[in-house]
Amino acid sequence: MLNIKTVAALAQEIKRVKESGKTIGFVPTMGALHQGHLTLVKQAREACDYVIVSVFVNPNQFNNAEDLARYPRDLERDEALLKTVGCELLFAPNVKEVYPQEDKRIFNFGMLENVMEGKHRPGHFNGVAQVVSRLFELIPADKAFFGLKDFQQLAVIQAMVKQLKLNVEIVPCPIVREQSGLAMSSRNMLLEDLQRKNAPLIAKTLLDSCNFVAHKSVDDLKTSVIQQINAVEGLEVEYFEVVDGQTLQAIQNWDDSSYVVACIAVYAGKIRLIDNVIYKNS
Ligand code: PAF
Repeated sequence: MLNIKTVAALAQEIKRVKESGKTIGFVPTMGALHQGHLTLVKQAREACDYVIVSVFVNPNQFNNAEDLARYPRDLERDEALLKTVGCELLFAPNVKEVYPQEDKRIFNFGMLENVMEGKHRPGHFNGVAQVVSRLFELIPADKAFFGLKDFQQLAVIQAMVKQLKLNVEIVPCPIVREQSGLAMSSRNMLLEDLQRKNAPLIAKTLLDSCNFVAHKSVDDLKTSVIQQINAVEGLEVEYFEVVDGQTLQAIQNWDDSSYVVACIAVYAGKIRLIDNVIYKNS
């Protein structure tokens, strides 16, 4: 596996791969890799001839300096893990390589970005769009793989690809969960003992709530999920929304949409965790 840190060296290798006629599968990450990421790499491996993974903690998508400083980083471990799943190229640039000049672009994703993560993390999706579009410029992939855990991010990236008329297929991949049900996230490794013990109750409550869809109103279900999670020591719901899976706008009644997704953000102490479940998609 190649470990490349500069745009110049990356361009040379990309030229070689393109000339050989191979298809490129790309998995952008911020490192601190876990099984969820490795599953994305395996999917890329199956679908494409040559797999590239980027590890770059993108400062532009953090609206909180403390969160950026705390974000876990372990490139050596990431490199070792990537070797086990058949990644051909690890691209791990520094900030200057990705942003030789300050990226001042302002994207407009309309109603997709004003709710949930967008509402609670102002500027976050603009930063995500900046880095992903820049990475797509450097890595002309045929397919790029993203986890459905970041449901709203996926919608924003799909919108960005459309807006910029990019020639890359975005492949959504299912959420990977720990045995306890907790959605895999690089942030899980920051959880302290009590938070780690209780965090799986987020997924349990969310998954159990699927059984209420037929019996409760949307409002009653929301109240019940929020109350159950807030009753757990050390957990505090930031938002829980039941939305249309395309527009990401909250629905009032189950009949308002045929594609209904419940999205949640919860603080476990200082660590912010997100998760979601699809209630229906028919
Ligand atoms: O999902 C992530 O890890 C990041 O938001 C991404 C897509 C790698 C952009 O920095």
